[in-house]
Amino acid sequence: MCGILGILSSQSVSENLLPEKLLEGLSRLEYRGYDSAGIATVHDSKIDRRRAAGKLKNLKALVNDNPLKGTIGIGHTRWATHGAANITNAHPHSSPDVAVVHNGIIENFSVLKQSLQAKGVTFESETDTEVVVHLIADFLKNKLSPLQAVQQTLQQLQGAFALVILFRDYPSLMIATRRGSPLVVGCHQDELFVASDALALVGWVRQLCYLDEGDVAVLEKTETGLSTHLYNSDAQPVERIWRPSQLSAAAVTKADYSHFMLKEIFEQPAVLSDSIQSLIGVEGTAIDLPDLKLDPGSISQVFIIACGTSYYAGLVAKYWFEKYFQVPTQVEIASEFRYRQPCLDKKALYLFLSQSGETIDTLAALSLVKQNNCKTLAIVNVPESSIARQSDQVFHTLAGPEIGVASTKAFTAQLVNLLGLGLYLKGDHNQDLCQELRLLPRLVSEVLNDQSTYQHVSLKLAQAQHALYLGRGLQYPIALEGALKLKELSYIHAEGYAAGELKHGPIALIDGQMPVVVLAPYDEWFEKTLSNMQEVLARNAQVIILTDEIGAEHVHRQVTNKSTLEMIVLPRVASLTSPFVYTVAVQLLAYYAALHKGTDIDQPRNLAKSVTVE
Ligand code: F6R
Repeated sequence: MCGILGILSSQSVSENLLPEKLLEGLSRLEYRGYDSAGIATVHDSKIDRRRAAGKLKNLKALVNDNPLKGTIGIGHTRWATHGAANITNAHPHSSPDVAVVHNGIIENFSVLKQSLQAKGVTFESETDTEVVVHLIADFLKNKLSPLQAVQQTLQQLQGAFALVILFRDYPSLMIATRRGSPLVVGCHQDELFVASDALALVGWVRQLCYLDEGDVAVLEKTETGLSTHLYNSDAQPVERIWRPSQLSAAAVTKADYSHFMLKEIFEQPAVLSDSIQSLIGVEGTAIDLPDLKLDPGSISQVFIIACGTSYYAGLVAKYWFEKYFQVPTQVEIASEFRYRQPCLDKKALYLFLSQSGETIDTLAALSLVKQNNCKTLAIVNVPESSIARQSDQVFHTLAGPEIGVASTKAFTAQLVNLLGLGLYLKGDHNQDLCQELRLLPRLVSEVLNDQSTYQHVSLKLAQAQHALYLGRGLQYPIALEGALKLKELSYIHAEGYAAGELKHGPIALIDGQMPVVVLAPYDEWFEKTLSNMQEVLARNAQVIILTDEIGAEHVHRQVTNKSTLEMIVLPRVASLTSPFVYTVAVQLLAYYAALHKGTDIDQPRNLAKSVTVE
């Protein structure tokens, strides 16, 4: 969703450089998803801003034609919530005295707007953000200091947000604050930074400080140099921990890949290898999770709570936990969890899955569970994220930064942790499973070796308006994930179904145009899934079956009408670990279908990487 960046440079940095740097930083935030962008500086006693609808290249062209200068500036990529994605609604929002960039939502903006309008304030945009500008400006007129004006304004705001503010009359001062939306401050010898996401600051800072809920950061340039002072939500000065930045520049480049998504798909063997090694070591025969403080014997059941792809990882875990580890498990969509006022079980483990660690619905569900003093554990990929910081315990995935909006390596990394957790809860020393796990990086590499098959077969999908994905057992959640990947990347309407559900409605959709992707490793569910495939073939569907060598033999023997059938033969893999191999295959199908269609693969339309509004 929206991205925020603020830079305050010392006098030794040229005032022509800062706008360039703001634009570079915003380009690192593009992956979050956005539909307009803007920057503002304070220069020559005025606030100067440039804003453009659409992609960052439009803003860059504007700045190129009409440059701006300064040693203090803010930038923003906006994912529209209140008001269309046009220039007027793009951030920074500004009055002559104050400029603001904002992530999140001011929930009571309409009441605040009415009272400001009653005082004669006129609004230029439809956004909720503009009330913040006018509230601060109003307090400044009443002779409050910038810090007091911000603190008073915060008292009036409801919602979850992060804000960075510039002041015309204080050209060496920037104030940043957060409530519910992340913000990180970074420092370097000649510059101070604030950003919604540490990725914006890769290579620029050595030290990072993540703001706590309600914190206000005052970034200032004085004669003695640059300084940062922090205040908590009670306006008291506080110290927060500064940590060395861990992110490498390689994480934010595509290397030789055409898309971040393809790079991240190809990173999966390494991610799996690192994750598996961290669970079982190089030679180990048992799962070792020394950092987890859980007593498996005291856990009555597991509730897994997540959104989107993370929710599907949770569904895979439900099969693993119940069928293989005998741990009762419920999987819940985070956005619905709190609405039904769930009966919480004090003996249950509440497990929150999130790649970003910032998904607002997952965070809200976590907060509900915590208020009720239940046990919480988060599986997240961003170590300093809000979900990581707020849950009792964290089991980090080792996927590294994921830039492609559609999740790939973070999903398979979640699966490894979930499998590890299941084994840990079961208290099982399962030598065979450890062996199966160790095979996974090689098996996934084998899938990746065969790009041309996916390029060719995905044409069938790219030419369609709709597609179905079918799977049984452990392949059912992967069918859901495959369909989600296809719709996100290629905008083709796709649905995943449990293969057994086909006859209960979806089969009505089948005709000669409909591609049906069937996930069918040769396992205990194979024969039944094959029958479902025969049913759609009999109705002339364009079938793509993903199976293994043994499955392929059965298909050759049993299926007579192969004229509309394509087969992708995947490596043979144990049933329990098959989701990893089949996931990578459906990722590639979606990737190449999107490539055929020419869509924006890394930043699909309307999508955001980190969903920080409800
Ligand atoms: C799809 C995708 C989303 C996310 C969902 C939850 O490719 O990435 O469905 O899984 O928005 O996000 P996280 O995992 O960050 O909580």
